[in-house]
Amino acid sequence: VKEYLGYMYAKRAEPSGICLPIIPTLLMMILCLLSSRLYVKEEVHDVAVLYDVFLTLYAELSCCSAGCLRLKFDEVVVFDNLETGYIEAVHPKARFYQGDLRNRKEIDDVLDNESGIDAVIHFAANSLVGESMVNPLKYYDNNVYGTKVLLESLLAHGIKNIVFSSTAATYGEPLQTPILESDPTVPTNCYGETKRAMERMFHWTEVAHGIKYVSLRYFNACGAHVNGNIGEAHNPESHLIPIILQVANGTRDHISVFGTDYDTEDGTCIRDYIHVTDLAQAHILACKYLLAGGKSDIFNLGNGIGFTVKEVIEKAKEVTGKEIKVVYEGRRAGDPAELVASSDKAKRVLGWHPEYNDLGTIIATAWKWHSTHPNGYKKGN
Ligand code: UFG
Repeated sequence: VKEYLGYMYAKRAEPSGICLPIIPTLLMMILCLLSSRLYVKEEVHDVAVLYDVFLTLYAELSCCSAGCLRLKFDEVVVFDNLETGYIEAVHPKARFYQGDLRNRKEIDDVLDNESGIDAVIHFAANSLVGESMVNPLKYYDNNVYGTKVLLESLLAHGIKNIVFSSTAATYGEPLQTPILESDPTVPTNCYGETKRAMERMFHWTEVAHGIKYVSLRYFNACGAHVNGNIGEAHNPESHLIPIILQVANGTRDHISVFGTDYDTEDGTCIRDYIHVTDLAQAHILACKYLLAGGKSDIFNLGNGIGFTVKEVIEKAKEVTGKEIKVVYEGRRAGDPAELVASSDKAKRVLGWHPEYNDLGTIIATAWKWHSTHPNGYKKGN
């Protein structure tokens, strides 16, 4: 990691091509999590990867002009309640505050203390489809109410740019594949419903108060940092690829396949798997876009290729060289049959270019983490 960061810092010291008189420092605030242990699984490891990518982009931006301003990303503040996250996953160069978004005073205190924040990246939501179907009020409380408190605090502190982790679950059963951002949003689960409500809250807050937003609708976030030291660590784990790899590393007996009677080629659900580093890149590009004057908008983030659950299991067997025991079960409530993105808009408008578009490579990065960290961030690996 040091080698990697060392390289970036060296790059950052190069003289810039165009020097302009205005050199704002962009203090980026990353809100990870609130609550749900489930949410952490997806988001906290994203944040750690994001920081590395953030520094990379810093290097790039500080060496060239962006719009009419020379951008300099050099400080990151992370706010997380650590209910399900791990302090070990927070980059040592980030300034960390422990707190909960639903507590107005806690978020106000951070924003009072950290003057000059230009943009906020909001990862703080519960994100489990299955859980949202049995505990919907938890999702309204954390996701919707938490966002309302955050927006009030941002308004009070004059912060006008927010990038938001949304989801493919906002669409529900799609009318067409791949899915476009303009397609109808009719969520089939409470998680997707709350994320859609958050998007609408951003919209109306912009209309009334001018806070600009970019909503990034992730498809299936997965993979781990290529260095193998940052990966998913959820308790309980509920996502497909980590569970398969826990079977491969011997910490779990089998993978349960939820539903074999969907209208797909092998009867199991189809998803679009997108690597966490590519997602992180998109957040940085979205910040850059907003700060350069881009209008509020919504973007899908996926690879545009769908894989069935059975195909993912077969690929994992190939990558790991391990046998993976499979048990077939009934459908999980709230699961749409197929979710595959069109990400053309993100590519065109944000200049996003996902690098990990091969499922085998994505699983290999996750396996590097799971095979060396069977206990996640806990000691004893
Ligand atoms: N699955 C199994 N067995 C498991 C776990 C999952 O068969 O043990 C299946 C699910 O039924 C689903 C697919 O594998 O068909 C993927 O399930 P995940 O739980 O890994 O992910 P989801 O598709 O439910 O949800 C994820 C994110 C959401 C996001 C969604 C968008 O958690 O935030 O992708 O596609 F909205």
